[in-house]
Amino acid sequence: MEALKDKYAPYFRIGAAFENHDLDKADLIATHFNSMTCANAMKYGSLTQKPGEYRFDNADKLLEFARANDIAMHGHTLVWHNQTPDYIFENASAEQLLDTLRSHTRLVREHFGDFETFDALNEAIEDKSDEYLRDTKWLNILGEDYIAKIFRVIHEEMPNTELFYNDYNECIPEKRAKIVRMLKQLIAEGVPVAGMGMQFHISIYDPSMDEIKRSIEEYAALGLKLRISELDISVYHPGKEDPQISLTPEIERIQAERYGELFKILRSYAKHIEAVTFWGVADSDSWLNYFPVMGRRNYPLLFDDNGQPKEAFYRVMDF
Ligand code: GLA
Repeated sequence: MEALKDKYAPYFRIGAAFENHDLDKADLIATHFNSMTCANAMKYGSLTQKPGEYRFDNADKLLEFARANDIAMHGHTLVWHNQTPDYIFENASAEQLLDTLRSHTRLVREHFGDFETFDALNEAIEDKSDEYLRDTKWLNILGEDYIAKIFRVIHEEMPNTELFYNDYNECIPEKRAKIVRMLKQLIAEGVPVAGMGMQFHISIYDPSMDEIKRSIEEYAALGLKLRISELDISVYHPGKEDPQISLTPEIERIQAERYGELFKILRSYAKHIEAVTFWGVADSDSWLNYFPVMGRRNYPLLFDDNGQPKEAFYRVMDF
């Protein structure tokens, strides 16, 4: 069977996010993927929970695997409202919080070395229509211009790394407009943002291919590099609690067609896209089996529970 990463070598890297336990699929991963993201292991809260105490072992194992298999590592993530230890915010002034972020970034670089790309900031834009920035501790402590500040500090500590902004629902026009507004302002101020991570947690229903094209064009028009950073295609309506279904031949065909159409579009914008990364490898490992409905089976990826290629895999490879 031809490998995804080889077929796509003329276009972009093919990545996957995974955890240590996914290394039981080491062969499958090494065959098809040449980019990787630690699903959790490099998040702030995975590296430290107490002042001065850091653990790197989980991320180290994944990085070692990546290096041994010639897989590029994409860093994920430095500033986020989730999975971040509370202690860094407690009684912190703006100056102290920025210093803490500086030390954290320095440690991460000293420990792991330089990455080509890193998510500096994750999900800072609010979903609700009438609000712009998400209300977070970072915003509250550092103030309205916190995004420029954190990018600058991170860039000083990681000068050789392209820094990305990463977000979801990035193809929904209203949210997209807010993300574009923020990115434009950063670029106008000379803030070192190099790329946009389009998460692409999408479904077989939404968004339309036209909206996807428009979104890629709008982000690319800012002069940023793009990564499709967390791709999966749910078989349920987005955000709804549809009852559990099984992967019938009909649903598998619809999903495969959508994957096929999506990759056709992505290939046509390949000059803007550095990598297309799936959030997981096999359906059984997907976070969508727990979210938004705990225990509801989903089938959002290219490989089934046994690591066998699904119809979607063949469609993505068929061009
Ligand atoms: C977000 C984050 C990821 C991951 C996924 C779900 O999109 O960026 O790190 O937590 O949600 O697993």
